[in-house]
Amino acid sequence: MTSFDDWVVHFEANDEHHRATEPMIDWSSPAEVQGRARGAFVRSFQRFELGESGEGAHLLDLAAAAGDPAYTEALTLLVREEQKHSALFGRALGYLGAPTLDSHWSDAAFTRLRRLLGLRTEIGLFLIAESVAMGYFVALAERAPDPVLRAVGRRIADDERDHIRFQVDRLRVGFRGTPMPLRALVGVAWGVVAAGAATVLVVDHGQALRACGVSPIEYWGRAMRSFRAAARSVLKNPEATLLGPTPLAPARAAG
Ligand SMILES: [Fe+2]
Ligand SMILES: [Fe+2]
Repeated sequence: MTSFDDWVVHFEANDEHHRATEPMIDWSSPAEVQGRARGAFVRSFQRFELGESGEGAHLLDLAAAAGDPAYTEALTLLVREEQKHSALFGRALGYLGAPTLDSHWSDAAFTRLRRLLGLRTEIGLFLIAESVAMGYFVALAERAPDPVLRAVGRRIADDERDHIRFQVDRLRVGFRGTPMPLRALVGVAWGVVAAGAATVLVVDHGQALRACGVSPIEYWGRAMRSFRAAARSVLKNPEATLLGPTPLAPARAAG
């Protein structure tokens, strides 16, 4: 039977895994991506560098108040992974010869909004953001026109796949005992937010997606499908056993 202790074990093992795989990224090689595509990746990475840098203090306080120490510990480790993603994007910006940004209005607005919310709503937003962005990391991993950017994408996509499972698990616990009509209503509200999040993503990162050979319109549809799959696995049957982490993939070289 899966529990949040399994997630603590996963995040600890994943930290080891990062230490083994990250040195394989060849930051010292000259960037292969040039011109407009390079500018597109710079703007896109600047947003992700900021967006993933949060300390999650409010979220972790809410988790602590909910009174499951294993969950809080696992969430603390997940927030640390997000900060590592931010650092990876920062490093990728250095590799592309570009600076990080100090702040962006949309992150500040989002942070202020989230201060007003409870744990279940916050985790719901987290799941929406991650399921909508997952395809971007996969596109980067598989199709970026530069081996270092592909390695960064792989590194982050591997983490995010489990982040989505982790949020699903906590939300299943959170929605146990919530009647079906109410869950259906939550699904509708999430869908509205997901459509907005997917739109913001394709507007902000459309050029970078194109540089990976992905059409923003197609991306939008795919992002919504991946959101709906995640939402369904929470709201259809929250009594289901927890998903738990996936087994760690073997270390792979950059390429
Ligand atoms: Fe992340
Ligand atoms: Fe994540």
